[in-house]
Formats: sequence, structure tokens, C-alpha cells
Amino acid sequence: MNIKSSNNLSKSHIVPVYNQKEKINFFNKNKFEKEIKTLLKEFSFKGNSLETKELYIEKQHIILLGLSKEPELEELRKAGNTIYNISKNLEEISVEIPFEKEKQKAFLEGLMLSNYSFDKYFSKKNPCKTTVSILNIESKIIKEIKEITNVVKEVRDLVNENSDITTPEYIEKISKDFAKKHKLPSKILNEKQIEKQGLNLLHAVGKGSDKPPRLIVIEYIGDKSSKEKTALVGKGITFDTGGTNLKPSGFVEDMKLDMGGAAIAYGTFKYLVEQKVKKNLILVLSCAENAISDRAYKPGDVIKSYNGITVEVMNTDAEGRLVLADALSYTQKHFKPTEIIDMATLTGACPVALGPSIIAILGNNKKAISSIFESGEVTGERCWELPIYDEHREMLKSPIADCKNLGGKFGGTITAAAFLEQFIEKNITWTHLDIAGAAWFKAPKNYIPQYATGIGVRLLSNYIINKK
Ligand code: BES
Ligand code: ZN
Ligand code: ZN
Repeated sequence: MNIKSSNNLSKSHIVPVYNQKEKINFFNKNKFEKEIKTLLKEFSFKGNSLETKELYIEKQHIILLGLSKEPELEELRKAGNTIYNISKNLEEISVEIPFEKEKQKAFLEGLMLSNYSFDKYFSKKNPCKTTVSILNIESKIIKEIKEITNVVKEVRDLVNENSDITTPEYIEKISKDFAKKHKLPSKILNEKQIEKQGLNLLHAVGKGSDKPPRLIVIEYIGDKSSKEKTALVGKGITFDTGGTNLKPSGFVEDMKLDMGGAAIAYGTFKYLVEQKVKKNLILVLSCAENAISDRAYKPGDVIKSYNGITVEVMNTDAEGRLVLADALSYTQKHFKPTEIIDMATLTGACPVALGPSIIAILGNNKKAISSIFESGEVTGERCWELPIYDEHREMLKSPIADCKNLGGKFGGTITAAAFLEQFIEKNITWTHLDIAGAAWFKAPKNYIPQYATGIGVRLLSNYIINKK
């Protein structure tokens, strides 16, 4: 799909309309208005939101698109998807989006995010070749939305790719290449260094696999005058078999998704660096494969974390919190962030609690939580806060270690966050995002495809860019 700004109508043309008092109204003056109204008398088109109707006026193919009189951003993203579905088999189409900039952007997001398919493994590819001309729009708006949506699509590709390709070593390679390209300082720990330096939780999770773990850190200083520094920490389990607590059929099939947190952290960082934002950022990716093998860590093991807290492993499938814990401690010790946002496909309990697409948000700072929540309301990547109470902290008690990695049957998303909280030092703003549902859709929904969604990149970019 080629999307450009233009002043000319194409062979097919989309006209948005709205219904008021059971009548079709136009947002702008339209040269076909009279003819359209005459033709509409013969049809039962109501112009309700996202309803479409195709008409021919002489040789002009017109598609009416119903919208609310004052459409919200998410409705316009969905409208972008409706237009994508209509356009994809046409040669050329033009669209009017008679709204202010933010609404034009939402429409473009919906259109561009819909234009995605993970087609690498199809023997016959069928890319969308349509030319879409957008009337009365500044080209720089198209460019801006292309940039962010391309990053979202890159994240989708990373998560959809075979886990034998997107190994910790592969994630190291793309991160290194990115750091090199932008001349950013980076620090990467290989398996030996992870073990030697005492990141024993990360080491334990990775040791069952022949694809060794990596801890990847890249720094970006966009504002030398500020002491603020935000760390984006991602769970990068490149495949989660569950380990000795092996996942059964029905649960294991999607588990290449388990580096989704690392992928959106990487995508967000990449986007913000490329936009040259005036913020200080640290990207931290904690990568390992949670494999089943005779070398894998075992239930019952007590392991000493990087910061000294000992953990009784009650379940080798609760591995995400382990690799994150060491990454959090390492980041705080060596990079001194003022804020940490970690993101992880951490618990199956998250979609059980909040539904399949909502991000659970937990942390220690009300202001950060509510700002991220508000960003989600704007970008359409919804978040909902869950609490962490002492009741939950107590659920992590172990008879032989400082804590265990499992909280029991109930409140799984919260006890996982309570586990991470133990590794957060005083005075650091910490927010944890559980994206277990949001990172991967079992079925497509509007402008989000089936499987990897890329949800989180627009959310966090919005939050960081608008941060005071
Ligand atoms: N990667 C999974 C969580 C997950 C499940 C993500 C489904 C996306 C979809 C995580 O490592 C895990 O296995 N969590 C366990 C925790 C349990 C053992 C306490 C879970 O959710 O069942
Ligand atoms: Zn697991
Ligand atoms: Zn996992």
C-alpha cells in the first residue's frame, strides 16, 4: 500500500458522512452531494458508525463511510481499518479526512497498522499494491505516522518469527547493530559473564538451553541537562516451554510470544532514539530460553539473586519474574535510573482478570501509573491498575529462603508484581506492565492482526514524549 497526500480524486473515492436525525450529513461540502442524496433514497444506508455504501455517479466510484458526528480517536482507527479492507483489492482510492490533526493521525494509524501481514513463510506472497491518496493533509503527518507504525510492525515481525531465529543471540545482534548505528554506549553480558557476575536467576533460567542467555543494555542521553533517566526493561524469554514444570498442549503453542516485553521495549527505545527525543533512556533486555532439558534448573532449587535476595523456585514456569529481577537489580546498580518501566508477558492470570487485550499496570507511583493509563486512553492501548497489598506480599513467603517465585492459585498477576517489587530500590519510580494478553491476539481485531500485536510501543512512546 502506497499512501500519499494528494488533491485529486482517484477512481474510487471515500466520503465520510454522519447520521443526524435519521438524515445523512456531510462533514464538508461535496460536489456529488445532490446526486448522492438522490441515489440514497433507493437504499437503506443509515450512515451509522463504520457502515459503508458503494455508489456510482457517472464513472466515479464513491464509497460512503458512516462515522459519528464527532468521532473519537479509536473510532477513527477502526475507520482506517474499514478503509483498508475496502481498498486492499483496488488499484487506487482517495479519502477525505475532514478532521483536525490528531484525528487525521488516528485514522492513518488504523489504516497503516491494518496493512500488515507476517508473510515471510507464505510460498506465494500477496502484498497490498493499492495507492491511497489522502486529500487535504500535510505530507509530514503521513511521514510521522509511517515512522511509528513501521516500528510497531517491526515489533510484530520479531514476535511472530520462529523462536529458533529470535534467540537471545539474535536479539543481541539487532540491539548491537542499532547501538552502533546511533553511536550509543552498550553493555552486553554473555552467559559466562552472567554467571560470573552473579546474575544467578537469569543464569538459572537460561541454563537448560543450548541458546545461551544475554543481558543487553543500551543507553541514550537525549537531555544532558536533566537528571531524569527512564529504564525500559523487557522480559525476553525467546521460548517458554515452562521448563520442568512443562506447559501442556493448548498452552505451549504461542510461547514464542514470551519475548514480547523485550520486543516492545526495543521498539519503543528505537522509535524514541530515531525521533531524537530530549529524554534520557536505558534499554534493558533480559533474554533467555526457558527450555526443558537435563541441564535445566529444577523446582525446589534455592537461588541467590544478583542483589542477594534468595529465591525458592516453586515453579520453573514462573521464570519471567526471575530474569526480570536480576535485570532490575543490575540496571539500578550500574545505570542509576530515576524511573523504571518493566514490561512482560508475565502471567496467564492477567487476561483472566482483565480480558484478552487489557494491560495490567502495577507499581509504586500513582502519578506514573495514572499518566500511563491516560496515554493508553489516547493511543487505544488500554491499561488497568491492579493493587499490591501486604496480603499479596505475604503469599511469597518461603520456609527456606527469603521468598519463593510463586504466590499460589489466586491473584497471580499481583503476586508476580509483588515479587518484582522486592528488587526495586527506594526512591525509584517503578511501573510494571503485564502484557500477557495484549501482546498476542488469538483472533484479529480491527487494525490489530492475529498473533503478535505490537501493543505497547505507541503507549510508551506517548507516555515518554509527554512526560513532564
Ligand atoms: N509466559 C508465561 C505467561 C503467559 C501465559 C503469557 C499465557 C502469555 C500467555 C509465564 O512465564 C508463565 O508461565 N506464568 C505462569 C505463572 C505461574 C506458574 C505462577 C502462568 O501464568 O501460568
Ligand atoms: Zn513461564
Ligand atoms: Zn514466560
